[in-house]
Amino acid sequence: MSGLISPDLNGMEAVETEWCMDMHMRLREDVTLAEIADDCAGRMLAWMQTPDVAEAVGLSVEPSLERTVRWIQQACQGHDRRAWAILLSGVHVGNVVFDQFDSKAATARLSIYIGPPESRGSGAGSTAIYKGLARIFEERSLHKVWLTVHAENAAAIRTYLSLGFQVEGTLREAFVWNGKRIDALYMGLLRSEFRRREASR
Ligand SMILES: CC(C)(COP(=O)(O)OP(=O)(O)OC[C@H]1O[C@@H](n2cnc3c(N)ncnc32)[C@H](O)[C@@H]1OP(=O)(O)O)[C@@H](O)C(=O)NCCC(=O)NCCS
Repeated sequence: MSGLISPDLNGMEAVETEWCMDMHMRLREDVTLAEIADDCAGRMLAWMQTPDVAEAVGLSVEPSLERTVRWIQQACQGHDRRAWAILLSGVHVGNVVFDQFDSKAATARLSIYIGPPESRGSGAGSTAIYKGLARIFEERSLHKVWLTVHAENAAAIRTYLSLGFQVEGTLREAFVWNGKRIDALYMGLLRSEFRRREASR
């Protein structure tokens, strides 16, 4: 895959250059997706109260149990938001979420987090995104999935690149992270690109 802008994953800066990556992703068999239910709320709240998740997802309001339960109930209706609980060996470790559906453009936004730090860095996130994409492209007949990620989140950017997302642009100083203004990257994946990846597995 190729693109015009690539994140400098060591210097954590977006640099304008031609890049080329060919990462072969491995799926974990012990990662599954399940419907989110009310009893996920306590865990979700605890994860949202940790700075690494709250800062990464750009949480703008104080999390509470009431807000979390309301969020789950909206997700269960499935109109404006489609969310799955990520299970690692049957244990809920995070969520993969699609929202901001645009029915005319056939696009949606992806977001994800793995709550417990010890469950990160071994393929759970990328497997969950892959499974979520396979379902959402089909369910909603989407043409494209997009996301934004702050430019210092090297782990997430690496994960998205490994799934075939391309960096399409830099949203200058669009994110506040640890109290300072930083750039965000806009990344996208077309259905055709995802299908090619599926077919080559
Ligand atoms: C971003 C996030 C979801 C990525 O999930 P993850 O599980 O950590 O990431 P991956 O699935 O890509 O796994 C990464 C590592 O596992 C390795 N891996 C990938 N598939 C694997 C497999 N099947 N088996 C073992 N290891 C595997 C990768 O090579 C990579 O190793 P490296 O870090 O040494 O390069 C997670 O780090 C997270 O929740 N962070 C906090 C919240 C956040 O930043 N959310 C995104 C906001 S935009």
